Amino acid sequence: MKIDRRIGVLMGGTSAEREVSLRSGKAVEAALRAQGLEVEAIDVGSDIVEELRGKRVEVAFIALHGRGGEDGTIQGLLEWLGIRYTGSGVLASALAMNKVYSKRLFQSSGLLTPPYQALRSVDDAAMSALLGGFGLPVVVKPLEEGSTIGVSIVREEEELEPAFQRAFDHGCCILVEKYIAGKEITVGILGEEPLPPIEIVPASGFYDYRAKYTAGLTQYRVPPSLPRPLLSRIQEVGMGAHRALGCSGFSRVDLRLDDDGAPYVLEVNTVPGMTETSLLPKAAAAAGYDFCALTRKILELALQEAA
Ligand SMILES: Nc1ncnc2c1ncn2[C@@H]1O[C@H](COP(=O)(O)OP(=O)(O)O)[C@@H](O)[C@H]1O
Ligand SMILES: [Mg+2]
Repeated sequence: MKIDRRIGVLMGGTSAEREVSLRSGKAVEAALRAQGLEVEAIDVGSDIVEELRGKRVEVAFIALHGRGGEDGTIQGLLEWLGIRYTGSGVLASALAMNKVYSKRLFQSSGLLTPPYQALRSVDDAAMSALLGGFGLPVVVKPLEEGSTIGVSIVREEEELEPAFQRAFDHGCCILVEKYIAGKEITVGILGEEPLPPIEIVPASGFYDYRAKYTAGLTQYRVPPSLPRPLLSRIQEVGMGAHRALGCSGFSRVDLRLDDDGAPYVLEVNTVPGMTETSLLPKAAAAAGYDFCALTRKILELALQEAA
């Protein structure tokens, strides 16, 4: 496909994942420029409408992570302005950002997701989690955050209260989830195609913010050493989760594979990390798309869909 539109790469923003987004955005900007495309980089702030108009952006490559960028709000604004954009639309973005709505849709699509309770206050939280029936360890996380921000694995009762507090720092509702022992797997989706799964092996055992963004702290296996039918099953589940939320273009689905080989869906990332060493680009590379080809394909999907 010939691309002759002026592309705005939207990055930065005000979410907790601003720094990661700037890295994603700069990598995307460089890859698009290297293909000779007309590119404007935009650090998204309250003057975004003037910026988009002033720079005469015709298609937006959204490289924003977390709130404001991955949750349907920037997508809604772009719809209003009549500017085409990459990735999922308003509804799918908003659903994917909310872990409770996501889980309901995974369940109603027949996908496994860890048993959970959503809680609104610390007192209720403490009680309900203890009475919740799935016992320790549990994972406590904010409802709408990313990059493992505010997420704790709780193995002892006395760690519950501080874990609740860390999660409540990011919103009024939190999630307490049964801890799924086993492997950490992620599946990238590109168009209608699940990419090769990646197994993530953090040295510390927990894939937290540090393990995600510090070179050398985590090992990646592409593909994981698992039987072929299980790898295909994991890809099917990834594709199923992407479809359950109505996602489009691309995404990355985070899963836990328990010791019996059952894949539990944790979440769908509608704007996954896009630095050259991020997970989706790694998976795409294993399927034969280098970083430039990946950014181009994502852009083409956006232009095709809206055509
Ligand atoms: N139920 C769970 N069982 C085991 N580990 C979990 C569970 N939920 C989350 N984790 C760990 O926490 C990380 C972040 O959780 P996730 O739900 O993907 O939220 P985020 O949006 O912050 O990435 C996961 O990558 C995984 O390592
Ligand atoms: Mg995740």
